[in-house]
Amino acid sequence: MDLGIRIEKALEIALTKAEGTDCPPRLASALRYSVFPAGHRIRPRLVLAVSEACGGRDPDAADAAAAAIEFLHCASLVHDDLPCFDDADERRGKPSVHKIFGEPLAVLAGDALIVLAFETLARGVLSDPVKLGGLIRLAGQAVGAPGGICAGQAWESEPEVSLSAYHRAKTASLFAGATAAGALASGAEPLQWRDLGERLGEAYQVADDIRDVAASPEEIGKPCGQDLALGRPNMARELGLEPAIGLLERMIVAAIAAVPACPGQAQLRAAILIETKRFLPAGLVRHAA
Ligand code: IPE
Ligand code: IPE
Ligand code: MG
Ligand code: MG
Repeated sequence: MDLGIRIEKALEIALTKAEGTDCPPRLASALRYSVFPAGHRIRPRLVLAVSEACGGRDPDAADAAAAAIEFLHCASLVHDDLPCFDDADERRGKPSVHKIFGEPLAVLAGDALIVLAFETLARGVLSDPVKLGGLIRLAGQAVGAPGGICAGQAWESEPEVSLSAYHRAKTASLFAGATAAGALASGAEPLQWRDLGERLGEAYQVADDIRDVAASPEEIGKPCGQDLALGRPNMARELGLEPAIGLLERMIVAAIAAVPACPGQAQLRAAILIETKRFLPAGLVRHAA
């Protein structure tokens, strides 16, 4: 089955459980609004692509890990858009969750998605407690403290931030969790897969910084110029646009070279190359040429 279809199906099945009849209707609607329609889905595609490259030995575990990683990502976006963080009115080309449902439900929808991520792992990996324990740990590391998304967002409340520490925590940590979880789901050693995820995640955040500076809100479905307005560190502002695009290209080459030896190494490298072509809108890629 196509990876994209697998991801939407896994998300739908898990979300339907959370929307059960006892769920307050507006919370149920906010949960669905936070997850569908799809964004790039780059992190869950990475989970499944790595799992397949490692032999695809446990598709149920891989689907659960992919859905869990995407729920954690969606939760981070809902919370990131709140007035106490980036105060963003749009996300994925539509009003952000708190604009439609209000702040209390946006906080709660994010919380419920984080919990749903762990519940989804527990349901999908029932027959292998050791694997389940490993996946829970990887997901926790990716989003918590000291180095996950919570830490990344918390760097914004410190007087000084190193740009690379900020990028590693707020974005690369979940990508590293995605590659490691994909490997573990298929029974491979997860640690050697973290480097690929970290490199891809750091590259993805550099691309996001470039989009923030040089794309249009219509192209990316969310506000631009946010980093300048909020005083956030941004690689394209720190280096300039052209050098940041050059850095991004070098980071992508280095990430692809970091794919560990595995049965599907060549196919995975090719798939990542295709995926990275979508990091920047077409106009910016021409700009780089
Ligand atoms: C946005 O991630 C937040 C960052 C870490 C850059 P995505 O660009 O993957 O967001 P969606 O899922 O496509 O909306
Ligand atoms: C994204 O940070 C990382 C998250 C934890 C959500 P940004 O604030 O740079 O992402 P966008 O630009 O709002 O998607
Ligand atoms: Mg932010
Ligand atoms: Mg933001």
